[in-house]
Amino acid sequence: MALLNPNYKDLKQSYLFSQIAEKVRNFSAENPEAKIIRLGIGDVTEPLPASCREAFKLAVDEMGVASTFKGYGPEQGYAFLREAIAKNDYQSLGLEISADEIFVSDGSKCDSGNFQELFSLDTKVAIPDPVYPVYLDSNIMAGRAGKENAGHFSNITYLDSTSDNNFCPSIPSTHADLIYLCSPNNPTGATFSKAQLAEWVAYAKANNSIIMFDAAYFAFISEPDVPRSIYEIPCAREVAVEFRSFSKTAGFTGTRCAFTVVPKELYLMDTQGEKFSLHQLWMRRQSTKFNGVSYPVQKAAEAVYSEQGKLEVAALIKHYMENAKILRDLFTSKGYTCSGGVNAPYVWVKTGKDSWQFFDQILKEAQVVATPGVGFGPCGEGHIRFSSFNSRENILEAVSRLTKVL
Ligand code: MLT
Repeated sequence: MALLNPNYKDLKQSYLFSQIAEKVRNFSAENPEAKIIRLGIGDVTEPLPASCREAFKLAVDEMGVASTFKGYGPEQGYAFLREAIAKNDYQSLGLEISADEIFVSDGSKCDSGNFQELFSLDTKVAIPDPVYPVYLDSNIMAGRAGKENAGHFSNITYLDSTSDNNFCPSIPSTHADLIYLCSPNNPTGATFSKAQLAEWVAYAKANNSIIMFDAAYFAFISEPDVPRSIYEIPCAREVAVEFRSFSKTAGFTGTRCAFTVVPKELYLMDTQGEKFSLHQLWMRRQSTKFNGVSYPVQKAAEAVYSEQGKLEVAALIKHYMENAKILRDLFTSKGYTCSGGVNAPYVWVKTGKDSWQFFDQILKEAQVVATPGVGFGPCGEGHIRFSSFNSRENILEAVSRLTKVL
């Protein structure tokens, strides 16, 4: 019989959001009349912007005509989208990122999960706690995490993020080669200030480390001085890769389009001290294992940057952030301490009790689904995350139900 990759035995039995989905399915089967409101996984509910739909349809029609039909596209994405991203998301803000440093993909989950493949197995990895579970799980799968003991893996440096540091982890006292940072943070909604990010960039430079900066929620930042991109920090091009996605920004969770920025100044070294360009390595990896995002989806993503697209995206974000405020106001009025919901679509609530117990309680008593904080890391225990991605009607209904049971 074929042998199992033993690292898979070190993973939790199922991925956090699959575990929640299964619990909800079981509850639903036992309570078929229950009208469940899902504020668990951050999945958008509002329709794709009209400008994206229009561009999508036109591109599908192009695929139906021989003269405009397209087969395989470039694995790194079509130039029209890479140029629109570089111009609108970076160059217009004075940030020096060129179109050929943008790699279009079908999601930041895949990119942030796959990137670790480029690093050696003895790479020292630092991961915030709590954070998006893909960073840790993908390193466990690769065999880089070591052995688990009481929720902690022996080879991982956990960057504790608690109310004591406003959920923004400080620089570790030990060396890390590969550092994951997520700002706005999923799940706490916390954001690094420019000064804090500058410290991380300085640490990475001093330690020859690479930062994986996940900015999937940058579009939800409302406060003026919060950095949207790590490249706002001088020298970040020498130390950081940045992940961004159209999923939450423009309602693409089901349409699938994202991108990763890999500046050409980034290098990895082999054991003999020879340097290898990270940009070329990622290009090599993607052109071997990925065939690109479909042409119509890339045209739909390009429309995000049209004048009308920008207005439509702003309206979507306003809608979700108003939902976040409604949720936050509920918990604050009930005396709960919470964070998030200002620069991020997630509200992070201190429950003061076991987070799975709280999950079960509100599912049973209010038929509302949230995400238990401990699922994002041991420091998330005693917290629960509410997603603001839903219709206004559902948010108001959830608030009315929760008001009665909390
Ligand atoms: C979340 O709920 O944390 C996200 O939706 C998960 C994801 O983006 O993969």
